[in-house]
Amino acid sequence: MLQGRRVLLCVTGGVAAYKSAYLARRLVEAGATVRVEMTESALEFVGAQTFAAITGEHPFTALFAADLVSPHTELARWADLVIVAPATGATIGRVANGISEDLVSATIIATTVPVLLAPAMHTEMWEHPATERNLETLRGFGYHIIGPEIGALAGGDSGMGRVAEPEEIVVAAGDILGGEGKGQKVLVTAGGTREPVDPVRYLGNRSSGKMGHAIADAAIRRGYDVTLVTTADLPTHPAAKLIRVETAEEMLAAVAGVEPHVAIMAAAVADFRPKSAAESKIPRADGLPSIELTETPDILASVVQRHPRPFTVGFAAETGGVERAVEKARKKDVDLLVYNDVTEPGSGFGTDTNRVVLIDRSGDTEELPLLAKSEVAERLLDRVAAAIGEQG
Ligand code: PMT
Repeated sequence: MLQGRRVLLCVTGGVAAYKSAYLARRLVEAGATVRVEMTESALEFVGAQTFAAITGEHPFTALFAADLVSPHTELARWADLVIVAPATGATIGRVANGISEDLVSATIIATTVPVLLAPAMHTEMWEHPATERNLETLRGFGYHIIGPEIGALAGGDSGMGRVAEPEEIVVAAGDILGGEGKGQKVLVTAGGTREPVDPVRYLGNRSSGKMGHAIADAAIRRGYDVTLVTTADLPTHPAAKLIRVETAEEMLAAVAGVEPHVAIMAAAVADFRPKSAAESKIPRADGLPSIELTETPDILASVVQRHPRPFTVGFAAETGGVERAVEKARKKDVDLLVYNDVTEPGSGFGTDTNRVVLIDRSGDTEELPLLAKSEVAERLLDRVAAAIGEQG
């Protein structure tokens, strides 16, 4: 489950930091892309170069002195999972109390992805009521906690407080990232098709691909096996199987080669294309050309007509009321239709946000507020997972 996933390993200052070098290696061996953050105290216990050699990238060690403009937010968004190992009492205390005073605590507070903490400290510190209270708070935030265990501690002591073994942390990470999508294939289409008029011109539309790519990204994070068929040249999660296409015909062919459990058709597919594309550039000097149009294939229909058919989500880019979309959902015979009014500010084409209405088979509607497209993707996948769950 770690293949292709992005793991941010935060190493804080305890003697157990030496074990995190092995943890980094195990994560890399499991197929994850690993980046490392280290606190100042962690650097007292183990060198940054060790992690650089294992992960292929230099660790990030300061809030303000990295190659990135805003390391804590950029790394918080980059990761699929944040692991804090070892997690010292100080870091646990800072995060539980919202104190983002170093790179590690700021990143944990800035991230929205799952966080797995592997506490390590002396038994007396572990048993202190402040630690108990802080861990209770972190559990309340939904963070995952693994260990500690009984064993040898720093300075020849032994007792409760030894960090969980790297293998156990890797297994826990896989379980967390497994998500509801484990074993399920999702097909996502994204972007606007381009139908050639001649070698330099095309009929197209304003779809940027942001909506579809956000869905593919969110689906990967939930453990789905994702194929993304897209016309857009946007950053894509490394775990997604990417098929780049240009035209509706190419998109149809790519979609035909995928047998998903869930199909989410967010692409803006041209409804018409030039019947034939000119072989050379149509010269302006020849006067106004007459371009004969023909229909493109209905890709959504080709999916809906399959036996067995996947759970199918269509999108409706409309410029009118939701009623037309309810009718469209019925006609298109989709399991769920995502309606967006593309004339509304902040919605539809090219924006980072979208306001959508989810329409189910019985015509029931769920209106979502204006949200980041990444959040629309999460809410949509929640609905898909719930509906599939109900179908058994
Ligand atoms: O890419 P962004 O800039 O982020 O913008 C997102 C979006 C506005 C493109 C997206 O949210 C959206 O609405 N996508 C669907 C756009 C569209 O083509 O809507 P439609 O109502 O014309 O098509 C209905 C459905 O049929 C869609 O699922 C579409 O993918 C599908 N279709 C349409 C025509 C066709 N020939 N084949 C199809 O499969």
